[in-house]
Amino acid sequence: MSATPSHTVHLGDNLDVLPDLDGPFDLVYLDPPYNTGGKVVTAYADRFDDWTGFMAPRLAHLPRLLADVGIVVASIDDREVHHLRVLLDDLLGAHNHVGTVVWDGSTINSSHLLSVSHDYLVIYAKDLAALKASGARWRQDRPDAQAMLDAAETAWNAARHDAQSAQEKFRAWLRPRRATLPRGLTEYDRIDPKGRLYRVSDPGAPSVQAGRSFRPLVHPATGQECPVPKRGWRMSDVSMDRMLAAELVEFGPDHTTQPKLKRMLADNSTVVPRSVFRQEREGARHLAKVPGAGEFPFPKDVEVLARWFATVAGPDARILDPFLGSGTCLEVAMALNDADGGGRSVTGIAMDEGSVVEGVLLPRIAHCEQTYREPVALSRETSRTPTMAA
Ligand SMILES: C[S@@+](CC[C@H](N)C(=O)[O-])C[C@H]1O[C@@H](n2cnc3c(N)ncnc32)[C@H](O)[C@@H]1O
Repeated sequence: MSATPSHTVHLGDNLDVLPDLDGPFDLVYLDPPYNTGGKVVTAYADRFDDWTGFMAPRLAHLPRLLADVGIVVASIDDREVHHLRVLLDDLLGAHNHVGTVVWDGSTINSSHLLSVSHDYLVIYAKDLAALKASGARWRQDRPDAQAMLDAAETAWNAARHDAQSAQEKFRAWLRPRRATLPRGLTEYDRIDPKGRLYRVSDPGAPSVQAGRSFRPLVHPATGQECPVPKRGWRMSDVSMDRMLAAELVEFGPDHTTQPKLKRMLADNSTVVPRSVFRQEREGARHLAKVPGAGEFPFPKDVEVLARWFATVAGPDARILDPFLGSGTCLEVAMALNDADGGGRSVTGIAMDEGSVVEGVLLPRIAHCEQTYREPVALSRETSRTPTMAA
């Protein structure tokens, strides 16, 4: 059994703490003050005459602290995103910018001219070429796929495991939703004799190439050979045999129809993450449920960060959050560990502005420790000599 993951929170200015930290970190999450002008903020200062000057010496530690295939994810909005990009381009190299994700998360409708409803997740790799060479493939659950799988299962059970009737019931469920679900998903509208939701795809090779297989398949009912695609099969005979054994080849009513491949939704329910997503902000509502925690302006969302942390870093990621604030990052790591058995550890840095440590962070840590049974060590001033283990 793996050891219980543990976390450390350094209390102090990250400018003082960062030089004493040792990496490597697999993921650095940055959520600095956005420089909103400070009007709505009571818990921390959010007005900087020179935001870039404030950030530069802190970000300067990133290259040293990041693992070779480490990732930086930074939350920021329109005010400073361009300055942050320039800083990170200089430090990590513009060629290591993986992308900038737009999170459309609010419905505030009080503005006179434009409701700015989004902010950003700016993502860099320490070394994008090395990350790609490592075979990393980022995937997220496909929105709505689970709802479709659940509906297919309900139809299968209601039809008492009769594939034809289950398919009819499933299509009746799908019909009013076709216009709103992505077409890539609605193509999954067949249920096979094992109750699996699938679509069919063309088994023909996309191009002429030496070595393609032209081996005919024998129809299971008529015993005669079915037509072979004119450029051959898209897969080798070995792969085709594997698909036949797994009942992933669909034959027509007789041998005159070319067989098709069956693609199961359950095996294709993840997608490459998209650079724009919409999700209502829930951070403040979530924090309000933490016993003893006071208010904090704009805590980030556990669910959103969990999705992105799980996307860009492995289950044992060492995570650094130099602007820990109310402690969302800690909760995210613990919730993910709880869900997937991972061993993520967080090193956070929190400055006690506006009593955020006593008023919000410590109650949240106590709540998370109790909920997830993962300890958090607190270290005041210097990172090397923990003074109190919670
Ligand atoms: C945008 S908030 C981070 C919110 C956090 N991600 C959350 O979900 O609660 C920025 C935080 O950085 C803190 N901060 C500002 N300057 C800092 C510094 N020099 N060192 C450490 N924290 C700092 C602020 O006090 C504030 O709590």
